Amino acid sequence: MTAPAPVLRLAGIRKSFGATRALRGVSLEVTAGEVHALIGENGAGKSTLMKILSGAHAPDEGTMELEGRPYRPTSPHDARLTGVAMIYQELNLALHLTAWENIVLGAESARAGWLNRRAGRERARGALAQLGHECLDLDRPAGSFGIAEQQVIEIARALLVRPRVLILDEPTSSLTQADAARLFDVLARLRAQGVAIIYISHFLEECRRIADRFTVLKDGETAGCGVMAGTPLDRIVNLMTGREVKDLYARTAHTPGEVVLEAEEVRNCPRLRRASLRLRAGEILGLAGLIGAGRTELVRAIFGLDRLESGAVRIVGAPPGRATPRDRWAQGVGFVSEDRKEEGLMLARPIADNLTATKFAALGRGGWIDSGRQGAAARRWITELAIRCRDGAQPVGELSGGNQQKVAIARLLEHPARILLLDEPTRGIDVGSKAQIYQLIGRLAAEGRAVIVVSSYLPELLGLCDTIGVMCRGELVEVRPRSEWNEAAIMRVATGGGDAAAGRREG
Ligand SMILES: Nc1ncnc2c1ncn2[C@@H]1O[C@H](COP(=O)(O)OP(=O)(O)OP(=O)(O)O)[C@@H](O)[C@H]1O
Ligand SMILES: [Mg+2]
Repeated sequence: MTAPAPVLRLAGIRKSFGATRALRGVSLEVTAGEVHALIGENGAGKSTLMKILSGAHAPDEGTMELEGRPYRPTSPHDARLTGVAMIYQELNLALHLTAWENIVLGAESARAGWLNRRAGRERARGALAQLGHECLDLDRPAGSFGIAEQQVIEIARALLVRPRVLILDEPTSSLTQADAARLFDVLARLRAQGVAIIYISHFLEECRRIADRFTVLKDGETAGCGVMAGTPLDRIVNLMTGREVKDLYARTAHTPGEVVLEAEEVRNCPRLRRASLRLRAGEILGLAGLIGAGRTELVRAIFGLDRLESGAVRIVGAPPGRATPRDRWAQGVGFVSEDRKEEGLMLARPIADNLTATKFAALGRGGWIDSGRQGAAARRWITELAIRCRDGAQPVGELSGGNQQKVAIARLLEHPARILLLDEPTRGIDVGSKAQIYQLIGRLAAEGRAVIVVSSYLPELLGLCDTIGVMCRGELVEVRPRSEWNEAAIMRVATGGGDAAAGRREG
């Protein structure tokens, strides 16, 4: 049996940004009707390669062929019309326009600059039906849908021009498990229709589940490729990192001490209905739950970002009563938001500036920038978290997604906070770096700092935390030692099937 001819063939692709050589001769072959996982560490060049393929960047060198013909898109629009569509992690919908308008927008029927409502709705309905989502309300504004439905709208829009190749860059990082499963169904349908799907994700188990083949990028080069079935994940991690990541959750011994934070019957409807918890020094407390269960709202409330309707948050040693984020910061509480944009990284400014300046703390005493301290901090964190960059003077906006996230974490850790609130800290971060971040969190706990970690990635919570609390529909239902949880038990409580009475005990 001969292998089918690739629908897409890239060879010798090179791309530099100034002194940064992002791609150094990459090759990639993808066949019709396959899901192809593109895997690699943060900064390996995945997004850059896909931006070239989808017409957002031009390559410096190399050849691209689509269905045997030379392919050189001049813009994302051109790429789309030629048959290559990309779904970015930050979706690109016009939120005030309706679902059907978004789907039809930019497709050929709109060329006249005028949309025929009936025909447009029909085409949109057809594209949604292809995805098994024909029931979606076409007339609602896109902004009124949840993230998973917005993603479906975006994919439906891509389908309108009959793509040969569909690229998804970390599509599941903001989805619930159920929504991710639905996305995988959608991808399976497209695959059956002969679409080639290129899939980028740091969740290797997920790649394993849905991909037929894989290509690993390392340092801007193709490190290997192969058939997914039968390739052990260790082998892939080895190709990515050039080393073994043996014990992802190696634990640093730490013992919880005195209570440092108490939340009592905290309430801020509609998203946060009722939550009480106690956090001890040297404790790592995980918050599990579905997206929208109120976990983010709970940590935001603790940090003083949202006002409480009722209930109280008490930080031991700090005055009681309402506190602003600035107060909390001064009381030794630090927060990393799940939303990189909200994080307030100053994208045009160097890494070093970002590490020492925040919304809550001025650059230095009396407005002086202590460049010596900044430089030292930058060097330290670049090594400690393996931030891929030229040096501490590089603007954060030039870093890859995962490396920007590492800067946000480093900035928090640079602050001597005794209580750390981490909302999805490893989102978009590669396996090797995840292990480093877990070890770091373990060391912080061993120093006596108290940590709350919100995560949708259950193996991470089970591997890292001492205690896990599960939230469901705005309520913190149950808090128990990690040893009393497993994935199934967490999911049961998170989906509302748990024993709520058992949760009351914890109170
Ligand atoms: N506009 C830019 N200017 C300068 N350097 C850039 C730019 N875009 C990307 N780079 C650099 O190119 C390299 C590859 O980045 P890319 O975003 O492709 O990585 P990635 O594999 O997608 O990583 P991640 O998993 O973190 O998303 C990185 O070193 C990054 O800093
Ligand atoms: Mg990327």
